Amino acid sequence: MSLPRPSPPSAPSHLAGLFSRAELEAEAKRLESRIRQPERWGLEMCRMIAPMTLRINQLKRQQDVIILAHSYQTPDIVYGVADEVGDSYGLSKKAMAAPQKGILFSSVRFMAETAKILNPTKRVLLPEPTAGCSLADGVTVEDVRRLRREHPGVPVMGYVNTSAAVKAEIDVCCTSANYLDIARRMPGNELIFVPDRFMGAHLASSLAGQKKVHIHSGECEVHVQFDAASARAWRKQASDAGRKLVILAHPECDPKVLVEADYIGSTEKMMDYARKLEAEGKVDVMPITECGTADRMRAEMPGLTIYGACVQCPHMKKSTLASILSALESPTAEQVVELPAKVIEGAKRSLDAMFAFAETK
Ligand code: 13P
Ligand code: SF4
Repeated sequence: MSLPRPSPPSAPSHLAGLFSRAELEAEAKRLESRIRQPERWGLEMCRMIAPMTLRINQLKRQQDVIILAHSYQTPDIVYGVADEVGDSYGLSKKAMAAPQKGILFSSVRFMAETAKILNPTKRVLLPEPTAGCSLADGVTVEDVRRLRREHPGVPVMGYVNTSAAVKAEIDVCCTSANYLDIARRMPGNELIFVPDRFMGAHLASSLAGQKKVHIHSGECEVHVQFDAASARAWRKQASDAGRKLVILAHPECDPKVLVEADYIGSTEKMMDYARKLEAEGKVDVMPITECGTADRMRAEMPGLTIYGACVQCPHMKKSTLASILSALESPTAEQVVELPAKVIEGAKRSLDAMFAFAETK
């Protein structure tokens, strides 16, 4: 799999002279060895970013801030400054458990809002305040109210990729790590699911005969780009070369893609599954999701051969070391996540319901 080349960043001039030559060189080597992609993130590139990662790590310690980064963030963020990396479920739990005074969420708005809802008294920073999500933009409060009118008494489950205001309208939240389990545990034989039509279709087919699922029309602009024919073509190419390809897919993909997959799961579950494959000596893997997952597999499972072509999320890829640095140095009002108390209260109810369902064995 070939991944897009990162554009070389330049460290802001006010960092010049803050660190010694030896500190900068050691940091550049640390970054290069952790990212493990010398062709894209070589020592020269790591030298350019070293002043920023050193300064960000210094500031986060001084300010008692934890940096949470979603798997789709770029390797300089994931391996340079993040304290925790994972999927939206894991990171929301890390946000809840964090002892630090503040949280910086390197990701998109709905994840930072979720951290704020779970930690209303903490300062939550979102370095790129315009980083949105096509799924979160795909459903409004009015859509949820209309669906409730159309299906009276039917509970509403909403994907975590929604605005805080929508979370305050639904009955239970879910993530890609738990949507099937939670839907199964919900009372009744009908369910409204917003906003993802593909995840909704997967839910409906998995629950056929047990529950009728009423699905909204949202979609992820990244995962909609994957197609079943190319998954089959990659499998054939591997098989022609005498290799057995294992295909892992994110549930935001079209169900036609999901049927080609050997495993379906959240970004972190895909990572866990790939770790298991590597341990068993099954090294030919195709992750069907955003490019950040392949970046992580290269760094953390160097024994794997990664197939396929990934797609970058333009929203996730807005985050940069420069915007993280500016959010720590002097955050703008937009970089500090604020939500009305009433929205926090309502949204917390649907998140608490998710944790109650998801954590009950
Ligand atoms: P995960 O919770 O699986 O990381 O997914 C979040 C997301 O936005 C995927 O597109
Ligand atoms: Fe939203 Fe898709 Fe980007 Fe995830 S990959 S943040 S679902 S647009």
